[in-house]
Amino acid sequence: MKKAIDVRGLRKSFKNTEVLKGVDLEVKQGEIFALLGSNGAGKTTMVRILTTLLKQDGGTATVDGHDIASQPEKVRNSISLTGQFAAVDEILTGRENLIMIAKLRHLAHPRQVADDLLTRFGLTEAADRKPSTYSGGMRRRLDIALSLVGKPRIIFLDEPTTGLDPEARIEVWKIVKELAKSGTTVFLTTQYLEEAEQLADRIAILHEGRIIASGTLAELKKLFPSVKVEYVEKQPTLEEIFLAIIGKKEAI
Ligand SMILES: Nc1ncnc2c1ncn2[C@@H]1O[C@H](COP(=O)(O)OP(=O)(O)OP(=O)(O)O)[C@@H](O)[C@H]1O
Ligand SMILES: [Mg+2]
Repeated sequence: MKKAIDVRGLRKSFKNTEVLKGVDLEVKQGEIFALLGSNGAGKTTMVRILTTLLKQDGGTATVDGHDIASQPEKVRNSISLTGQFAAVDEILTGRENLIMIAKLRHLAHPRQVADDLLTRFGLTEAADRKPSTYSGGMRRRLDIALSLVGKPRIIFLDEPTTGLDPEARIEVWKIVKELAKSGTTVFLTTQYLEEAEQLADRIAILHEGRIIASGTLAELKKLFPSVKVEYVEKQPTLEEIFLAIIGKKEAI
């Protein structure tokens, strides 16, 4: 299968701190890929580099077949980004936010594009209110809807459900699954292991500047054979695998 993202030896330092020390990863077309890591691991830095907002110090990466350093415009045409912090405009209504982005993307029928996305995200009733009146889950839905204007091939979601309650989180998971079903490649970062477990076709763990493990959930589970306790088989959870891999073995 064709690669949507291909990262080789990516490096990035801020002053004297080396945040990325040679990251390698691949994301296949149409899959949901989760980058897992603790606070400060470098997840947002990775996303900012892959979305051309930040330049790497070393290594290479292609996104949708385009080199991020030499073809940033082409990369930007193929992607969208929903950042860790909402990018919703507070003065405009939900509908106006969508129309504005559709116009910025030079789409032919901005009002129709907005209406379609409002329906798809269950925001039609709230469409003519300002986002300041929305719940956290509704704001996230609007934020993701905004990033879908213009049908990007690859979508980056940086911690899409941080701060949401379980119900709103499940709503976002549903949206992400539907996106992937429709053929969009999803690159998401999360600190929630359950989120990766629920959503991701493949998972990579970023720790101390490198990818220290990657694969499907089943492959990661194989790294840690199930433990037998009084004849009851216990499968390790992704959380246990994660903590064990990053060296907090007492967690198992
Ligand atoms: N512009 C910057 N200048 C200096 N240091 C930075 C800058 N951006 C990030 N860092 C540092 O790089 C490290 C990685 O940050 P990053 O935001 O990528 O982590 P993260 O994995 O997204 O964390 P979180 O889960 O908290 O969002 C942190 O130590 C952070 O302080
Ligand atoms: Mg972050």
